[in-house]
Amino acid sequence: MNTPQYRAVNFSQTTITELMIPAYANFGGKIHGGIILSLMDKVAYVCSAKHAGCYCVTASINVVDFRGPVEVGDLVHLHASVNYVGTSSIVVGVRVEAENIHTGEVRHTNSSYFTMVAMDENRQPRTVPGLILESKMEVHRYTKTLKRRELLKQYKQDISELELDTENVNPEKSTTETLLADQRCIVAVSC
Ligand SMILES: CC(C)(COP(=O)(O)OP(=O)(O)OC[C@H]1O[C@@H](n2cnc3c(N)ncnc32)[C@H](O)[C@@H]1OP(=O)(O)O)[C@@H](O)C(=O)NCCC(=O)NCCS
Repeated sequence: MNTPQYRAVNFSQTTITELMIPAYANFGGKIHGGIILSLMDKVAYVCSAKHAGCYCVTASINVVDFRGPVEVGDLVHLHASVNYVGTSSIVVGVRVEAENIHTGEVRHTNSSYFTMVAMDENRQPRTVPGLILESKMEVHRYTKTLKRRELLKQYKQDISELELDTENVNPEKSTTETLLADQRCIVAVSC
């Protein structure tokens, strides 16, 4: 099948539902965060591969903050939707909800953005179909992604400067003293 030049968002929208079994629990009796992350990666893959019509890899994952625990016995619903496409990259928004089967209560536990890259048969990035935005929400998500990408670019630059800075292990003594003044640590080495 020939891949079309453009695809609508709803063509690839995907939901995966999984029952949280005891084997997924940690020592505290709640579901391991890693189980949820793995399922998020899975649904992001399905969504991006459907849009691209080919194999995709995960290039990066945005911050994931867990708003509350997921319990054994909950049904977890993972909703994925393409928010943005570049040339070979696809940004997929993933929303995770946990449902208590007995009460019907549904809690939003976390959301994140996955950047997936479409690959050709030689494992090189491949151009993906453009996106047809059919609702105001889809336009909003697309423009929000554009803004997030700009902020991320700045953040990455700042972080890489910081990483370079940590290579300097001999700062001025007064600088270290100021930085650590309110910290819960004891400097047991002469700076
Ligand atoms: C993702 C990957 C294919 C990018 O390769 P690359 O040589 O950097 O390719 P390019 O520079 O041509 O970038 C391709 C696209 O990926 C995007 N990209 C690359 N690295 C990225 C990152 N860290 N975050 C977001 N997007 C990224 C680029 O912006 C570009 O997007 P565009 O085509 O829409 O403009 C490569 O880094 C890779 O294979 N990574 C490992 C992926 C993997 O194995 N994931 C599973 C881990 S278990």
